[in-house]
Amino acid sequence: MKRSVVLGTGSFLPRRELTNADLERMVDTSDEWITSRTGIRTRRIAGKGEENYRLAAGAARRALEMAGLEAGEIDLIVVATMTPHMTMPSCACFVQAEIGAQRAFAYDLNAACSGYLFALDMADKYILNKPDMNILVIGSETLSTRVNWQDRNTCILFGDGAGACVLSGRDHGGGIIDSRLFTDGNLWELLYMHSPKSLNPDLVQQGDDHGYIRMTGRDVFKFAVRAMEESVTALLQSNGITTKDIGLMIPHQANIRIIHKLMERLGVPEEKVYINVNKYGNTSAASIPIALDEANRQGLIRRGDLVLFCAFGGGFTWGSMLMCW
Ligand code: ACO
Repeated sequence: MKRSVVLGTGSFLPRRELTNADLERMVDTSDEWITSRTGIRTRRIAGKGEENYRLAAGAARRALEMAGLEAGEIDLIVVATMTPHMTMPSCACFVQAEIGAQRAFAYDLNAACSGYLFALDMADKYILNKPDMNILVIGSETLSTRVNWQDRNTCILFGDGAGACVLSGRDHGGGIIDSRLFTDGNLWELLYMHSPKSLNPDLVQQGDDHGYIRMTGRDVFKFAVRAMEESVTALLQSNGITTKDIGLMIPHQANIRIIHKLMERLGVPEEKVYINVNKYGNTSAASIPIALDEANRQGLIRRGDLVLFCAFGGGFTWGSMLMCW
């Protein structure tokens, strides 16, 4: 049976680094506070020429190169993002033009920080139907454009970057096995970002916050741990395996304490978890594909290994996915 297999991975980060020491000069915070509460030491911030679609295109080119495919051989481009370059056209349209993927149709998907898993799941459904499709699945964000740099509660958490993979149908025993995806729209107010300024006075609330990201950190923290634990447990149980069978777990990189709590509850040892939140902060939909690309290029995933992904984000949205490499 043909399954959706990763032919290549890629990632692309902006050049500029913003360290905790830099943030100490911008808001009332300290390296010690940020490191101990979040595990983040530095992050990348996009500058001129590093718009969201350009980061996405950079990651896509690297994934294509590893896959040994030309851009013209791609049939579909999906970009998971909540910070597109423009509301219209989608980020994916810009990427299609930028890399010259003439035959691909392209669109964005927004499921906040869970976006990459939602996008992979959707791409998987296309491939199960048409295994010959080559699909570029990209997660790309420029959250620095939507953060209030005077709000110490949020500005220390986020960073910019992009990651990508090329998926296609193959019959070699590997591929996407299963996923569990969830949404609870009732909880949206705990984590949200208004649209950038609307000109319709009927739709603009007084005291609007310019579309900055807003978050009730503690509630998000607690819900994230429980939701990811439940989703992973259900996924593993229904596939008749336990965390002992997992080769590598790649969680969404939001906060080291969330990741540690999850590891503790699931009983996954540190050496089986890929962590890079210290280097990039929370890059939302880009965090999983960046981590996957790094782990892949470091040779941490071998053919036949089971890879477990889990994510959580605004919406709320959350879920997990199991893949055989
Ligand atoms: N520097 C110094 N002090 C700070 C900072 C800062 N950057 N930010 C907040 N504080 C202060 C607060 O003002 C508060 O002070 P007070 O006690 O005098 O009122 C104190 O530190 C404690 O604040 P809390 O918010 O209670 O701190 P907490 O331990 O909960 O940590 C954090 C905050 C890091 C945001 C945590 O709640 C968290 O990580 N939550 C999850 C956030 C997250 O991951 N969101 C994204 C997930 S989904 C997605 O990726 C979009």
